[in-house]
Amino acid sequence: MSQTVLVTGGAGFIGSHTCVELLRSGHEVVVLDDHSNSSPVALERVEKIAGRRLSATHVADVRDRRSLDSVFSRHPIDSVIHFAAKKAVGESVRIPLAYYDINVGGTTALVSAMHDHGVHRLVFSSSCSIYGDATSVPLTEESPAAPTNPYATTKWTCEQILADQCLHVPELRVLALRYFNPAGAHPTGLLGEDPRGVPDNIMPFLTQIAVGRRDELSVFGDDYPTPDGTGVRDYLHVVDVAEGHRVALDHIDDVPGMRVFNLGTGHGASVLDLVRVFEEVCGRQIPYRITERRPGDVAELVADPAKATASWGWTAQRDLAAMCRDAWNFQQHNPYGYAP
Ligand code: NAD
Ligand code: WQD
Repeated sequence: MSQTVLVTGGAGFIGSHTCVELLRSGHEVVVLDDHSNSSPVALERVEKIAGRRLSATHVADVRDRRSLDSVFSRHPIDSVIHFAAKKAVGESVRIPLAYYDINVGGTTALVSAMHDHGVHRLVFSSSCSIYGDATSVPLTEESPAAPTNPYATTKWTCEQILADQCLHVPELRVLALRYFNPAGAHPTGLLGEDPRGVPDNIMPFLTQIAVGRRDELSVFGDDYPTPDGTGVRDYLHVVDVAEGHRVALDHIDDVPGMRVFNLGTGHGASVLDLVRVFEEVCGRQIPYRITERRPGDVAELVADPAKATASWGWTAQRDLAAMCRDAWNFQQHNPYGYAP
């Protein structure tokens, strides 16, 4: 059924890919984004790929109640997908209050506005980081939460706030999607990851080395208890993440209340596995050096995605080579991201 969907943070990495999926499947899409970590160019490209227009784009801060009231008054919103947040783990240690303010304050402002405007469907961006230093993988949704940094704590706090709100508002339906490591780009080469400054995440670092913007990769530690000693992660294609949101919306009315789902592939890759696959795909060598562990890093995070498969039939369709190929394609066509 076609819905009018408000997408906060819709110009960002995952949000823009999700907007394409929503438009392509016939939904009306309203975007709210302050562009603190994105470019409006991404939204032009969303429309180009989808061959359809967004219903509206609002440049606003998700914490701003007046803007939210205006958006909910002007559009017949059926559901909200809430991506808008700050997401850099290291930065969250340096400026924790900004993370609590934007990530938690943004979520409470949004949920309060939804309540006042009678909107009762929310898909929330959560994160595998809430699992912390896992003692056993793969991680199911029942694995204990143990956030190890302020960013992860904001996501865990939001999940708890949303669960409480669901107890208070029986008609509310919330799906918290815990993404593992989204990577890759749109296969058209028009949308991708465009971090500001030095990338925190490994995939944009690799593509920036390959395109000549950086010299070498620091591999953060080779003494983890993993097969080759480097960190193991569950990388999943951003288009699979976007499809996960489309499917989640299709099923949001199945059960009232709050539910959490992992979005991952169920397969782990080490840093050196990733470097090897990336080198094969792009046909260039990636110089790297083993350095100290990065503070706060964990050995291994791999999802058990069985719940999303059993409930919705969702499984990640794209492999690590596709992530590397699409990320590299985006970087080649956009060496400086969305900047002119
Ligand atoms: P992103 O930074 O590319 O996108 C976030 C978007 O939100 C940006 O367009 C930014 O301008 C906007 N935004 C930030 N603060 C805002 C505010 N106060 N008001 C309005 N807009 C605001 O990040 P992403 O990778 O697309 O992540 C999207 C969501 O998924 C985030 O909530 C993030 O925490 C979560 N997440 C991301 C990953 C990942 O590795 N990328 C993994 C797990 C969870
Ligand atoms: C992946 C692997 C690093 C950079 C973060 C957040 C998580 C989620 C995804 C938001 C690790 C290694 C990295 C580099 C390296 N985001 N690495 N050299 O840390 O698994 O997850 O992004 O929710 O919450 O914590 O992702 O891409 O930074 O690192 O060796 O220059 O690559 O040690 O093993 P991470 P990442």
